[in-house]
Amino acid sequence: MNTHEATDGPPGVHERIVPMRLQRFLARAGVASRRGSEDLMTAGRVRVNGVVVSELGARVDPLTDTVEVDGRVVTLASAPTYLVLNKPAGYVTTMSDPQGRPTVADLVPRDPAGLFPVGRLDRETTGLLLFTTDGDLAHKLLHPRFHVEKTYRVSVEGRPARETLAALSSGVELEDGVTAPARVRMVEAGPSAEMEIAIREGRKRQVRRMFAAVGHPVISLHRTSFGPLVLGDLAPGEHRHLGPEEVSALKRTTEGGR
Ligand code: URA
Repeated sequence: MNTHEATDGPPGVHERIVPMRLQRFLARAGVASRRGSEDLMTAGRVRVNGVVVSELGARVDPLTDTVEVDGRVVTLASAPTYLVLNKPAGYVTTMSDPQGRPTVADLVPRDPAGLFPVGRLDRETTGLLLFTTDGDLAHKLLHPRFHVEKTYRVSVEGRPARETLAALSSGVELEDGVTAPARVRMVEAGPSAEMEIAIREGRKRQVRRMFAAVGHPVISLHRTSFGPLVLGDLAPGEHRHLGPEEVSALKRTTEGGR
């Protein structure tokens, strides 16, 4: 056990598994919320390597320390958690919002603690949002080097001409530079066009800005895939845990990045 490490930051893509604060360890292990875990500690119900630990700054190494609550050994679930949410419109992509707006944290399980969204969808964007406790994988998935492809169904004002689709796919000039090649196709042309676009970058409001730049503002935006993951028929506001094959496929996308 180590009580002299730097303090915990908010969970995020740089999160490391070891060492960790004891209350966080307990929450990750599903014993109680972080607050509830602190209460267990101050009540003297938690032992580390046989010694009662009530000091809230204490840290443990989950690989080497033995933690007990009321005499029962507690371990971290061995596998990290991975799930996808079908994000509805009106939810901010953050685990807590100082302004008290609805957030995606309202829609995913509270346990395990340390679950966080991989990347961001705008408040009005709907669709596939990946969550995990696996900070290393999240960090790689968001790194531009790995070019993870994200596909969106987009409804836009007007009917883009063929040359406009070509411009979108070869790159449009935005204030932060020309966009990388994208795959674009018309799904349905009506008074407002339904399009599909697949991009490998992750700039802020990128799809909205790309279509605005070519004169076709976005009416609605829905993410249907993230790398090998597809949303399928998940209802808005619902989530599902990934299967082992999906997790392996996700990991494979981060192998051999340039
Ligand atoms: N592009 C956008 O403009 N918004 C999103 O939410 C995602 C991609």
